[in-house]
Amino acid sequence: MFQPCARQPADRTCNSTVAKRGVARYPTPVQTLDPAPPSPDAARSSPAASRNLEPILQVLRAHLPATGPVLEVAAGTGQHGAAFAAALPGLDWTPSDPSAEARDSVEAWRRAGPTNLKPCLPVDVLDEATWPDATFKAVFCANMIHIAPPAATAALMRLVGRVLTRPGGLLVLYGPFMEAEVETAPSNLAFDENLRGRDPDWGLRDRDAVIAAAREHGLAFTLRKAMPANNLMLLFRAWP
Ligand SMILES: C[S@@+](CC[C@H](N)C(=O)[O-])C[C@H]1O[C@@H](n2cnc3c(N)ncnc32)[C@H](O)[C@@H]1O
Repeated sequence: MFQPCARQPADRTCNSTVAKRGVARYPTPVQTLDPAPPSPDAARSSPAASRNLEPILQVLRAHLPATGPVLEVAAGTGQHGAAFAAALPGLDWTPSDPSAEARDSVEAWRRAGPTNLKPCLPVDVLDEATWPDATFKAVFCANMIHIAPPAATAALMRLVGRVLTRPGGLLVLYGPFMEAEVETAPSNLAFDENLRGRDPDWGLRDRDAVIAAAREHGLAFTLRKAMPANNLMLLFRAWP
């Protein structure tokens, strides 16, 4: 079943709700007191995505090209893509997710969204048959690789290595990571344990292992940026 986000620790509280037609346009978050923004009918939203949207957007503004196609892998609710496409109108933003339930929500956001938000593709990083036959100036992927088996990290890098323009195409990877030289925050340790309890193949990934997987597909690690709530933004560039 599609779970847009499933994290308990403080900032990670995330309970998607569907605003029912004609009943409530404001999803009611559970386990948190802060408000979620209004969603179009049938569109899901998550308080976590509402919180991290602005810090992520700041990084995107600084590093994404002004124009060109961008692929979002694991779009989830679609809330991110709708906001980023609206804020960055020179980009053509193509969301994707293998979950039909997620794609329904993404499409609901798209129907109410800007014209540069493109139809949602059914991209599963583990299934090459679903990969787009197109090139993109950038790929954005948030909160996927720890909620998928380890093979998904290598598969993501293979996909990105194939679809990014070279040289200079950008991969923006967001989420919580383990780092050898940084003490893991208690909230991340608890989240990792929670994930592994739900599926032994899930869990926070080691940053350096992710960087090594990227290198195998011609993607050079260029930036580590600390983000709120013990998350990281990792940037990679495709080399020639
Ligand atoms: C926690 S949600 C993240 C959603 C959104 N990116 C965010 O940060 O709010 C994880 C998403 O990863 C997607 N996902 C899981 N396995 C995947 C795979 N093999 N390929 C692509 N996406 C996958 C799920 O369908 C889900 O929408």
